[in-house]
Amino acid sequence: MAKGKVVLAYSGGLDTSVAIRWINEKYDLDVIAVTVDVGNEKDFEVVRQKALRTGAIQAFIADAKEMFVRDFVFPSLQAGTLYQNVYPLATALARPLIAKILIDYARREGATHVAHGCTGKGNDQVRFDVSIQALAPEMQIIAPVREWRMTRDEEIRYAQEHSIPVPVTAASPYSVDANLWGRSIEAGVLEDPWNEPPEDAYAWTINPRFAPEEPTYITIDFEKGIPVALGDDPESTERVDGVTLVTRLNELAGAHGVGRIDHIEDRLVGIKSREVYEAPAAMLLHAAHSALEGLTLSREQRRFKEIVAQEMSQLIYDGRMFSPHFRDLSYYVASTQRHVTGTVRVRLLKGQAVAAGRRSPQSLYDFGLATYETGDQFDHDAAVSFIKLFSQGLRTQARVQLGAGHTPEIRSLVAPTIDDDDAGV
Ligand code: ARG
Repeated sequence: MAKGKVVLAYSGGLDTSVAIRWINEKYDLDVIAVTVDVGNEKDFEVVRQKALRTGAIQAFIADAKEMFVRDFVFPSLQAGTLYQNVYPLATALARPLIAKILIDYARREGATHVAHGCTGKGNDQVRFDVSIQALAPEMQIIAPVREWRMTRDEEIRYAQEHSIPVPVTAASPYSVDANLWGRSIEAGVLEDPWNEPPEDAYAWTINPRFAPEEPTYITIDFEKGIPVALGDDPESTERVDGVTLVTRLNELAGAHGVGRIDHIEDRLVGIKSREVYEAPAAMLLHAAHSALEGLTLSREQRRFKEIVAQEMSQLIYDGRMFSPHFRDLSYYVASTQRHVTGTVRVRLLKGQAVAAGRRSPQSLYDFGLATYETGDQFDHDAAVSFIKLFSQGLRTQARVQLGAGHTPEIRSLVAPTIDDDDAGV
């Protein structure tokens, strides 16, 4: 009888290389290696050949860059999802897509198992396992690194005994994951939250200190919340595909030191961890998109959308994108983006990407209402009546509950103190 098969998410690194042989021995399954290209800057043919040399019966490269940008990155930009208000979720957004691709290959090749190289301590294992279970509950999951409990030295010995090439270059002092939407850096000296991230943690961004003294202005056109064109002349931007747009902005903004993030992050598994990110294009685009929403969405849309963004950020972070709840919220976001069309001019300078100008055919900005010059069209008399109703309830409350002729201490109104006895309870 033919052996069973497993589709392994293969990166070409030591862990997933050892995993090929370990799965052969431990599970007696044939391994099909699948490497997903989400813009992680690798020589993919070299990776593929290494998988075959290491013992995979087949090895595939899946170019998922376009799908990643179109179906994960841009919807996340439209939603405005930044985990804990800072992390653009690059790693988190890629995991469900990789899981989906693993399942597609598994079904096509008749595999009963899928496997990934995540450890048992991080978020990524949760994202893979949850995504796989949400899409293919019948699929069995193997997580070798989580299961084998080998130390680094034991792993290297295992590799040597099985003729698996161990990288000769000094291992990076960090654990890095990168794709088009950003680069995640952790471990090493970063594990002490007091340590400022050393320069060698960064690869995409120049230190803002050494960035050009002169700003660069870049113009971005959005259609329904999606960036579709860019250029340095607002009157003649160039239409480009999403992958090109994000790639170019990473270079452009990175050269101004834009996109460095230093974050104490709350992992899903209950651990606080020190995370450093580089996300030049993501930071720039979030700033630009939000500036355009400022012009095209109403006050209540902006307020409520922010609440939705917080919810969605956590769902993405927690690996729950393939849930009906996430889908429901996505429909809300898509609806909010119908009029988010227009142009934003962004200034890149010394580590900052700031919207310098915005315009839109759908703009709700009304000069006649907003201007402080004479001759404005705002109804000043209506303001008086409006305030009368707006404060009605407060006036009643003051009359009944504050006591006539007596104003309480300011501190007791707006700045109460908490007794030490209550702290820590
Ligand atoms: N803390 C980030 C996240 O959970 C980044 C994880 C980076 N992963 C890695 N394998 N280095 O999304």
